[in-house]
Amino acid sequence: MIDIGFAKPALPESGALALLLAEGAALDGVAAALDAALEGGLTRAMAAARFTGKRGQTATLIAPGAGLDRVVLVGLGAADDVTPHRAESAGATAAAALLKEPSASLAADALAPALLAHAALGARLRSYRFDRYRTRQKEEQKPKLANLAVLASDTAATRTAFAPLAALAAGVELTRDLVSEPANILTPAEMADRAKTLKSLGVKVEVMDQRDLEKLGFGALLGVARGSVNEPRVVVMQWLGASEPEAPARGRKAQAKQAAKPARKERAVPHDPLVFIGKGVTFDTGGISLKPAAGMEDMKWDMAGAGTVIGLMAALAGRKARVDAVGLVGLVENMPSGSAQRPGDVVTSYSGQTIEVLNTDAEGRLVLADVLAYAQERFQPRFMIDLATLTGAIIVALGHENAGLFSNDDTLAGQLAEAAKITGEGVWRMPMGEAYDKLINCDIADMKNIGGGRAGGSITAAQFLQRFVNKVPWAHLDIAGMAWATKDGAVGPKGATGFGVRLLDRLVADHYER
Ligand code: BES
Ligand code: MN
Ligand code: ZN
Repeated sequence: MIDIGFAKPALPESGALALLLAEGAALDGVAAALDAALEGGLTRAMAAARFTGKRGQTATLIAPGAGLDRVVLVGLGAADDVTPHRAESAGATAAAALLKEPSASLAADALAPALLAHAALGARLRSYRFDRYRTRQKEEQKPKLANLAVLASDTAATRTAFAPLAALAAGVELTRDLVSEPANILTPAEMADRAKTLKSLGVKVEVMDQRDLEKLGFGALLGVARGSVNEPRVVVMQWLGASEPEAPARGRKAQAKQAAKPARKERAVPHDPLVFIGKGVTFDTGGISLKPAAGMEDMKWDMAGAGTVIGLMAALAGRKARVDAVGLVGLVENMPSGSAQRPGDVVTSYSGQTIEVLNTDAEGRLVLADVLAYAQERFQPRFMIDLATLTGAIIVALGHENAGLFSNDDTLAGQLAEAAKITGEGVWRMPMGEAYDKLINCDIADMKNIGGGRAGGSITAAQFLQRFVNKVPWAHLDIAGMAWATKDGAVGPKGATGFGVRLLDRLVADHYER
């Protein structure tokens, strides 16, 4: 993980420097100091590179003098139009250009502390690397930016603004780590153990094993797990932050007033919690309805929904979000074997509804069905949001730009769309309805686990889930196209994206925190 520090703006004497520059603005601060040290060299370089500060524009100066090895210029666009998301992208672009430097400084004199903190977040997210299994590279040979000094005129305010964003970044990084792990390492049991590390953040973590799930009657989930020697787990994570104290008061009078308030009471049970549910298929071979060999390795990231829920809980707890939130993940491995479930098997779900399993590769919905029903019965949620790499069909429909959003509640769907706009983690609402629901009616059980043919495959999957949701506001995010990137992106390298952590953190912060 990159180490980000904050320092007063001064021209660094050596190393690498990133300058985030607004369009058409006169050089000031660190940029002006550099230009002076180079005797107008920055101004000349900008003119030669036709660099005007337009959003997304970049230019690199190699060994420009003044002791610096490299100066990277990144355009912010018009100073008045910089949003948190744009600041993140600019910080990320700078980091991408500096990845091979051991350490660097970053200055953005046009940005107020809050936006500068978002630039730092972008830099941190973009410099993520998963190199746990590269054993022959020495630490110093690994091409990664280890230290970034953010030059801020109001150092204290910038550091304060960055603190919750650092917790958010840690959540995204945890998700990326989980999603990147191979399935021989990250079994359901191992993933449950990793979720337990959230205890150190004050999250209550409960792990249910095979026997617990049998007693409770998670028949749909257990049917999927039957083919694997790696037994399933369901993890329940509770963050009871609704009664967290307010952020430390600034003035001395305000501090005295705050100290006089009664201390927070420890509560055992969440009140109207927000509930997040993740599909955690640690590997999806398809089961007896076996997938083709080509590309099957991708199915190590079929646990990304669960990985996102775990990272989100870490982010909420890490920044002490003033909300009660519960995360539940269903962890199973979908394997073919002599004990695997067969096409045509009928299972009884936690809700009591029976399901004919016509395709063992439509397993994610079976896992989610039980977790949705259980969560709803146990927690009386304010809303439930599930995340799942559920269907290949959503990639056909939306590509890699938007997750499919399915919901029974226009308010919740609208809030998610808004959070998507703000964070840049896209969602696109898909239709649902009775006509689609009919497609999963079944002759011998209450429903079948696939629609007739391939038509509307993501929608019939969502309709299946909805049969396990009663009157509670619910949204389902099909993230099959978003969890993994085959090329470098705006705020992350190729590989696991951590999609959904920033989106849902924003949703919580903007609409559900006390
Ligand atoms: N995990 C897959 C969906 C998937 C496919 C995610 C490709 C990412 C990339 C899911 O379990 C699955 O196999 N879905 C089937 C459903 C079908 C059998 C109705 C699919 O999409 O083909
Ligand atoms: Mn599958
Ligand atoms: Zn799957």
